[in-house]
Formats: sequence, structure tokens, C-alpha cells
Amino acid sequence: MQFAAILAGGSGVRMGNPNKPKQFFYLGDKPILVHTLEKFCAAGCFDGILVLTPATWIQQTKDIIAKHCSQYADQVAVIAGGAERNDTIMNAIRYFEDECQADDASIIVTHDAVRPFVSLRIIEDNIAAALAHGACDTVVPATDTIVESLDGELISSIPNRSVLYQGQTPQSFNMRELRETLESLTPEESAILTDACKAFVLRGKKVALVRGDVSNIKITYPQDLRVAEAMLEA
Ligand code: CTP
Repeated sequence: MQFAAILAGGSGVRMGNPNKPKQFFYLGDKPILVHTLEKFCAAGCFDGILVLTPATWIQQTKDIIAKHCSQYADQVAVIAGGAERNDTIMNAIRYFEDECQADDASIIVTHDAVRPFVSLRIIEDNIAAALAHGACDTVVPATDTIVESLDGELISSIPNRSVLYQGQTPQSFNMRELRETLESLTPEESAILTDACKAFVLRGKKVALVRGDVSNIKITYPQDLRVAEAMLEA
């Protein structure tokens, strides 16, 4: 079975509006979250699609889905996310295991709600890679030179750019493996690990690369929203 978790549980501090998380900002004629959700619903390859939002936004999220994509409303469940991104993912796993009869072979595709330009090709490649390898990350080759500084003042190294990639989402996994890996983290590890793939790498597990796309941007700052508006009109 294949499940999708749309991660919309963040508060969007860097976007600068404490009253409205960025996934609910309008992009064109509908909220960012709706653009993202439509991509997953239209893919037609999931046994369940879950949106995880801040607890105080659950009802608004249901109303938004009913208003903007009513044709998909009966395919989509909405529940509360968690304090950290990986807590949100754990809530999704528990939901799929408890409510949707997810089994040991089930795949979970996790995706940032604020990456509305994800493509069907990327979603399908994620499912194939998760089935084949147990875990995968969507990446694009690094374009800028990456400079490492351990003290924030002097360069400690400049890794060879040809082996560097920038991580996007989706990140997709065998669901049981993901649960076991996240459950194995110590509180100290959990505190620094915001990335589920990094938890796999830390435990010595293989994570395959899926080719992303430069258009699969994450909306983080107000400037990103202006870029996204321009991309929508192009
Ligand atoms: N996310 C989540 N649950 C959390 C934290 C983040 O589902 N506890 C989601 C966000 O809603 C977003 C995605 O993870 O879709 C990527 O995270 P990020 O861009 O860092 O979002 P925020 O945490 O909302 O942003 P900020 O760091 O500016 O507060």
C-alpha cells in the first residue's frame, strides 16, 4: 500500500506572520497547501492521503479542502502535526498504521506542504525508489559552491561541488523502517535531526537519490512567495 503525508504542521516563523502559517497563504487563487494537495490527489496512486496541520488549524484546513478541492475531499484526512517535523511524520505513521491498515510493505511519501510545484514524475519516481531501496530523498545538484565554517568566522573546508546535492522533498520510505528508525533516536539525536533521511544515514541505512527539479522550490521567505507567483503566471 502507498500513503502520502503532506507536512503542514509548521508555523512559518521565517515568513513573518505569526497569525497565519505560510502553507495557508494564497498563491494565485488558492492556498499554497491546496496546490500541493492537488498534485498528490491527481496522482491517483495512493491508498490514503493525510494532511497534518497545527492543531488549531484542523477545522480551517478541512474547510479549505472542501472549498477548493471538494472533488478530492473524501480521499483526504486532516489531523494534527507535532512539535517538530519528525513528530509530524510520526503522527502520520501512527495514523496510517492504526486507521488505514498499513502493513510491513507499505510506503510513505512525505512532502512539504510548502513545495507546491512538485511534479507527478517526482512523486512516481519516489514511490519506485522507496519500493526498490527502502528509502529515498529528492535532490538537485548543488549549483552554488558550498562553504563549510565550523566557527562562523573562517572557512574550514570547501567540499567538491560535483558530489554535493541540495535536498528537496518528497522523502519516501518503507513505513515500518521509518518508524523503527525514528523511534531509535535518542532525545539528543532527535533534537538535532529535522531531516528523516538524515536519521537513516545516521543509522547506516541506504537512502537512494531521486532526481528533483529546480522548480520544486520551498516557500520559506516572503521573497519565495513572489517567485512562486511569477512561476504560476509563466
Ligand atoms: N512542518 C511540519 N511540522 C512541524 C514543522 C514543520 O509539518 N512541526 C512542515 C512545514 O509546515 C513545512 C515543512 O515541514 O511544510 C518544511 O518546514 P519549514 O519550511 O521549516 O516550515 P516551518 O517550520 O513552518 O517554517 P519556519 O522554520 O520558518 O518556522
